Amino acid sequence: MEKAFKSPFLLLLFTILLQIHFSNQLPHSQLQAFLTIHQILNHPLTINSLDQNIDVCSFEPNPYLTVACYEENITQIHTQGFNGFTSISGNISMEALFAALTALPALKVLSFVSLGLRGPLPQTIGNLSSLEMLNLSSNQLNGTIPFELLGLRNLQTVVLDHNQFTGQVPFWIGSFSGLTVLSLKNNSVNGSLPSSLARLENLRILQLSMNKLNGEVPDLGNLTNLQVLDLGNNSLGPKFPTLHNKLVTLVLRRNSFRFGMTDNLSSFYQLKKLDVSNNEFVELFLPSLLSLPMIGYLNIAGNKFHGMLLHNMTCGVDLNFVDLSFNYLTGDLPACLKSRNKSRIVHYRGNCLSNGRQRQHRYAFCRNEALAVKILPHKTKDNGSKVVVAMSIVGATSLAGLMVLGVGLVFSKHAFKKPQTRVILEKATMMYPSKLLLDAREICQMAKLGPLGLPAYRNFLLDEIKEATANFDESHLITEGSYGPVYKGILANDNLVSIQCLKVRKRRGTQAYTHDIELLSKLRHIHLVSALGHCFEYNTEDSTVSRIYLVFELVPNGTLRDFILGQKPSWAKRIAVAVEVAKGIQFLQTGMIPGLYSNNIKTTNVLLDHSLHVKLNSYNLPLLAENKVNILPSSGAKENGKAIVKQDEKSDVYDLGVILLEIIAGSEITSDNDVSVVKDLFEVGIKADKIARKQILDPAVHREYPDNSVKVVMELCVRSLSNDHNDRPSIEDVLWNLHFAAQIQDSYHGDASSDRPSSPVFTSQ
Ligand SMILES: *[C@@H]1O[C@H](CO)[C@@H](O)[C@H](O)[C@H]1NC(C)=O
Ligand SMILES: *[C@@H]1O[C@H](CO)[C@@H](O)[C@H](O)[C@H]1NC(C)=O
Ligand SMILES: *[C@@H]1O[C@H](CO)[C@@H](O)[C@H](O)[C@H]1NC(C)=O
Ligand SMILES: *[C@@H]1O[C@H](CO)[C@@H](O)[C@H](O)[C@H]1NC(C)=O
Ligand SMILES: *[C@@H]1O[C@H](CO)[C@@H](O)[C@H](O)[C@H]1NC(C)=O
Ligand SMILES: *[C@@H]1O[C@H](CO)[C@@H](O)[C@H](O)[C@H]1NC(C)=O
Ligand SMILES: *[C@@H]1O[C@H](CO)[C@@H](O)[C@H](O)[C@H]1NC(C)=O
Ligand SMILES: *[C@@H]1O[C@H](CO)[C@@H](O)[C@H](O)[C@H]1NC(C)=O
Ligand SMILES: *[C@@H]1O[C@H](CO)[C@@H](O)[C@H](O)[C@H]1NC(C)=O
Ligand SMILES: *[C@@H]1O[C@H](CO)[C@@H](O)[C@H](O)[C@H]1NC(C)=O
Ligand SMILES: *[C@@H]1O[C@H](CO)[C@@H](O)[C@H](O)[C@H]1NC(C)=O
Ligand SMILES: *[C@@H]1O[C@H](CO)[C@@H](O)[C@H](O)[C@H]1NC(C)=O
Repeated sequence: MEKAFKSPFLLLLFTILLQIHFSNQLPHSQLQAFLTIHQILNHPLTINSLDQNIDVCSFEPNPYLTVACYEENITQIHTQGFNGFTSISGNISMEALFAALTALPALKVLSFVSLGLRGPLPQTIGNLSSLEMLNLSSNQLNGTIPFELLGLRNLQTVVLDHNQFTGQVPFWIGSFSGLTVLSLKNNSVNGSLPSSLARLENLRILQLSMNKLNGEVPDLGNLTNLQVLDLGNNSLGPKFPTLHNKLVTLVLRRNSFRFGMTDNLSSFYQLKKLDVSNNEFVELFLPSLLSLPMIGYLNIAGNKFHGMLLHNMTCGVDLNFVDLSFNYLTGDLPACLKSRNKSRIVHYRGNCLSNGRQRQHRYAFCRNEALAVKILPHKTKDNGSKVVVAMSIVGATSLAGLMVLGVGLVFSKHAFKKPQTRVILEKATMMYPSKLLLDAREICQMAKLGPLGLPAYRNFLLDEIKEATANFDESHLITEGSYGPVYKGILANDNLVSIQCLKVRKRRGTQAYTHDIELLSKLRHIHLVSALGHCFEYNTEDSTVSRIYLVFELVPNGTLRDFILGQKPSWAKRIAVAVEVAKGIQFLQTGMIPGLYSNNIKTTNVLLDHSLHVKLNSYNLPLLAENKVNILPSSGAKENGKAIVKQDEKSDVYDLGVILLEIIAGSEITSDNDVSVVKDLFEVGIKADKIARKQILDPAVHREYPDNSVKVVMELCVRSLSNDHNDRPSIEDVLWNLHFAAQIQDSYHGDASSDRPSSPVFTSQ
């Protein structure tokens, strides 16, 4: 205690305190701790103030120091530096400071702002067990966010803005069920966001802007209390996050988001501020955002949004800031944005709007740019009489060809029974690959913290694998694939899985598989057959890996081909299925790093789950490729001509094209010849009329469908099958067109089937 009072002034003060304020029952230890804290902080103003008001608990609050007590305990301390003060100190011992704080057992609110605190947060922070609110903004704290915080079970608010924290947003953050505010703005936090964020049901404010975050934002759709989400100035994306529609403020500016916004925001009835500026969105801009009931601030500048605005569009009454600059918008600036009301700021430079005053490009610019990313809806190429002739010749022969194809239907039913697999809602993984190679028990611990829908990716024990497959019993064998046998497995918790057995060709240790396992652990997405874990089997002599077992979820409902040929789905369902395939491909290519390309996706390795959603089951993993057993030429349209072609993202688009052939024509496509015949047929169909197209379309599509929608998908299909890779659309482009086709389909059935607003934008032109 003597040590704490180096300054005679403070000692005097302390003495006076004890004498005068005997009525104050603040325990000795707490008062002493408080004075120690102030000495450590060396805060000139607080000492002066203390001089005037000696009773700590009835001390008059001011912006620089506020203390609150409840009965005989100090419960709150707010201290803030002021101009110049931070630079004077800079020598504060964090250890000493927090050691003193632990002597305040009832401290609920701790706010140390702009005090020049430096270095990592000490572990003793975990002893402040009553803490509910922590605000350490604008210091120079660094290091990772300490694990010891986990000891603070009452934490509700954590604000660490404007520091230099590094490391990742910790995955254990998800266990603070009471957390309402989490703010880490302007730090150096990196990596991807943990999916456990989705468990913070009470979260109201999540601010992570100005960090180095990347990857997809986990599904936050369950956070019904979330009002403010600020993820600006990171590298997140490309998929627009899934969010609850009660959100009030959404800031995603300066990230790498590219798609998924169009469909989702129109129902956000409480949204006041939307800032998606400076991303990479290549989408249709939904003008309905302008008229959201609460919208006040809308900024979409610096993207590639396209679409046509109309003079008569409406704006929300509170809308007072709009920035549409530097997109590819065409049409007329809506009258409601043109009003001269000074209190409404409107920017729209760098578009192709026809009646604005701010600098615009010519219409052709936006159209060409849109075309460059191939986002324009169908353009009718009128080639006149030639087409008709072509139709009558090619049409006849190809239709005949198609009929021949139709005869050869084969139902390659999978050996799957009807097991219960769980619906997967999560795709993010939060595992550290190096750890995956270590201790299985430790991993199991972490698995408990894993995302809700799907257990975390983990390391299985060989015994678990053997038990699950009854020691690889024949009855569990699903198939002898080209990568080795695949077994059905039943885990101890009754979950059904499929287990791919890979016999390893090269003798290598576990470490050599770090990258493979890392890649595998990322294969988690609603439209993928997701990886659940792996298991190594070792050679006894030298402990190199002899076999690797890859554990995937078991997807029960057969293949896409079975579905198309067997269930005769409606046109709407066909488009929906195509969209899901495209989303799966998009995730493989852009949702994980490194992306997976040339995945050889076919209607026979696209599976359906129990709710008939699509899951891709074909990945171009190096691990699989280098340990392939039989190099049989697998049947499939792409194999022959395309195997040599450079592996790129467009080869998946080609595969998707083949899938679209089957989906539209409803016939099995098994060779390159089939592809070219049906493709020719489609080319003719595109130029012909509705009746001719109806003949090309699978006759099983008997329910009503809009011809326009079929035509759009046919065009997309033909483009996807272009011989020149550069002529094939990007996967984003594919998705856009499919969404467009779905939209036509939706509006055809009236409004009831869709909650998307029917927009006049699409139909004009
Ligand atoms: C920092 O503290 C050390 C001893 O703890 C002292 O020697 C040094 O002068 C202090 N520096 C400043 C800038 O106060
Ligand atoms: C003050 O803190 C002590 C120690 O935590 C606790 O036992 C006591 O109940 C607290 N008093 C009040 C009124 O909160
Ligand atoms: C944290 O900051 C302290 C002092 O400001 C510095 O000495 C230390 O190297 C920093 N640590 C890290 C991990 O950046
Ligand atoms: C903090 O708590 C740990 C155990 O919870 C204890 O060992 C340690 O002594 C405490 N530290 C202080 C400064 O009270
Ligand atoms: C944290 O402190 C900063 C600076 O005083 C303040 O602006 C902010 O509102 C505080 N946050 C909370 C949640 O109290
Ligand atoms: C970010 O924090 C640093 C100090 O760490 C500060 O100097 C800077 O002004 C902050 N940036 C913003 C935009 O607030
Ligand atoms: C995060 O940054 C640290 C350095 O601060 C680096 O070692 C680490 O690899 C980074 N992690 C990720 C996932 O980028
Ligand atoms: C985002 O970062 C850019 C540069 O990296 C900076 O100019 C801008 O002020 C930042 N925006 C915000 C809101 O911090
Ligand atoms: C957007 O909404 C559609 C359905 O309305 C949904 O399927 C999709 O996952 C949503 N996307 C995001 C990013 O929330
Ligand atoms: C807006 O104008 C277009 C033609 O310019 C018209 O088709 C549409 O019905 C109008 N919408 C409303 C709501 O008046
Ligand atoms: C300007 O707009 C604001 C709301 O954005 C409204 O309150 C105000 O009445 C308007 N003024 C005029 C002159 O229209
Ligand atoms: C959202 O909540 C539902 C119902 O509690 C749950 O089934 C689902 O897994 C949750 N989704 C996520 C992403 O956590």
